[in-house]
This record gives sequence, C-alpha cells and structure tokens, in this order.
Amino acid sequence: MKAACRQVTRAGKTLGLVPTMGALHEGHLSLVRASKSRCDTTAVSIFVNPLQFGPTEDLDKYPRSLERDTRLLEELGVDWLFVPSVDEMYPRGAKTYVLVEELSDKLDGASRPGHFRGVATVVAKLFEIVRPDYAFFGQKDAVQVAVLRKMVSDLNLGVELVVCPIVREQDGLAMSSRNAYLTPQQRQQALVLRRSLMRVEAAADAGERDTTKLIQIGKQVIAEEPGARLDYCAIVDPETLDPVADVSRGALVAVAAYVGATRLIDNILLTSASR
Ligand code: PAJ
Repeated sequence: MKAACRQVTRAGKTLGLVPTMGALHEGHLSLVRASKSRCDTTAVSIFVNPLQFGPTEDLDKYPRSLERDTRLLEELGVDWLFVPSVDEMYPRGAKTYVLVEELSDKLDGASRPGHFRGVATVVAKLFEIVRPDYAFFGQKDAVQVAVLRKMVSDLNLGVELVVCPIVREQDGLAMSSRNAYLTPQQRQQALVLRRSLMRVEAAADAGERDTTKLIQIGKQVIAEEPGARLDYCAIVDPETLDPVADVSRGALVAVAAYVGATRLIDNILLTSASR
C-alpha cells in the first residue's frame, strides 16, 4: 500500500483517503464521491479497528460485507482498496498510541472510554501508510472530526481534512452501519434522535438562544419515546467540544441515545448566520 501510494504522489497526482470500517452505505459512498471529484487518485481503507471498541462493545458482531463493499467501490471507480489484517496493523508488542487529551473524553468519549485513542491511533497509522493530500470524514461523527482535526494540527500531519454532510434515509434517520442491528420497531423508535434535533433547531430559529433551555427541549423529545434511552444531548463549540451558553455564534447540537442495545448518534450544526 505504501509503495502504491508513494508512486501516486511521486507522479505529482493528488491522493485522497477515505477511512472506513466497511459495511458500506450511502454515507460512506458520499465520501468516496467527494474524494473522486477532488483528487486524481482515491484510496479507501476497510479495517474494523479493534482498538476503538470497548470490551463490552460490538467488535465481534460488527457487520462485515467485504465482497459487496469491494463491488460497490469498483463501481465507483476507486483506485486502491486497503484491507489490512489486525496483525498487520497491530504487530505483537505494539506500545505506541495517539491520544488527543481532553477532547477524547468528551461526549462519545465519556461513554466510550478509550474509543478515540483507538480512532486517533489507527487514523494516524493510515495517514502514515497512505500519506494522502486529503482525507474525507463524515459530519455524522462530529466528535471524531474534532479529535482528528486537533491531532492533524498538533502533529503537523499535513493532511487536509474534508468533512462531508450527514447522509440520511428518506425518513431522516442518519445512515449508520449499526442501523442494521435495529428491529423494524426499533427502526421507527430511532427516528427520535433526528426529531429531537429538529425540535431544538426550530426553537433556536424561533429565537431561543439559551442552551440550557434548548437542551431541555431536546431531552424532553427523547424522554417521550419509551423505546429510547438518552446518553447525552449537548450544545457545544464544534472545535473544542466545550459547552456554549448561547447559540448566537453558532453551535453543534449533538445527541446520543440507546435504542434497545444499539447506541445511535446524530447532530446538527446551528450556523450563526441563521440566528
Ligand atoms: P465508519 O463508521 O465506517 O465511518 C467511516 C466514515 O464514514 C466516517 O468518516 C463517518 O463519519 C462517515 N459516515 C458514516 N455514516 C455517515 C453518514 N450517514 N453520512 C456521512 N458520513 C458518514 O468512523 C469510522 O468508521 C472509524 O472510526 C474510522 C474513522 C474508519 C477509524 O477506524
């Protein structure tokens, strides 16, 4: 993979990387299309990264569909597909990790200890293997974006991160590989995440700026769906992930909830222009 990627950059071509864990859906494919339109060459990685799963999380049952994924990526004209093994990415005795302090403990990081250390470590390794000019990530994982932006800046990685909008199902549910775990009834209940964000946005549009009140509105919507259990509903600065007191200068509204045993996340960005 290194040799192939070095050849691309030596030839003076731009290289885009789309890191994924596979089980590809339209959200992933939108990143691939964005890379194809911006870069001469596009590489996609598929690696279910054990380091970012907690001991009680879904590593073993995480959906895997390599044949289908390969076909979809071929159809889109991806140049390189990188599917390393766990042994190759983490040779026995590996002792080095990338930890973005503070940011990694907020929001999803608070509920998933060690998760963002796993994400930052694997993405740093992928960046070193591929050395892309651009790397494409989804706004769906807003905390991941904040952590990786900080990592790139702190470690002078020289990769430009391109963040692409959330791709949704027709009824508004944010696409996620984990949606496959939902029963038809849970699939309906899962819509409450999006509904709570819409309600918060509507209240902000109607002039409510106080985030304590806006968060209360979001939490109330989740509480009205008995099939869902709130993890967090927060209004924060999208870069620092620190809570903001009012939304007049724009903010990230992020929500996480369990539907059955499945943990789902969603978010919206309130822009200052619209306030
Ligand atoms: P994964 O969950 O497979 O997601 C790969 C990329 O697709 C991420 O950047 C994610 O934000 C993006 N994505 C997922 N659902 C999306 C949606 N509905 N709309 C837009 N983009 C979406 O995120 C990971 O893998 C891993 O943590 C990884 C970065 C690969 C490191 O292991």
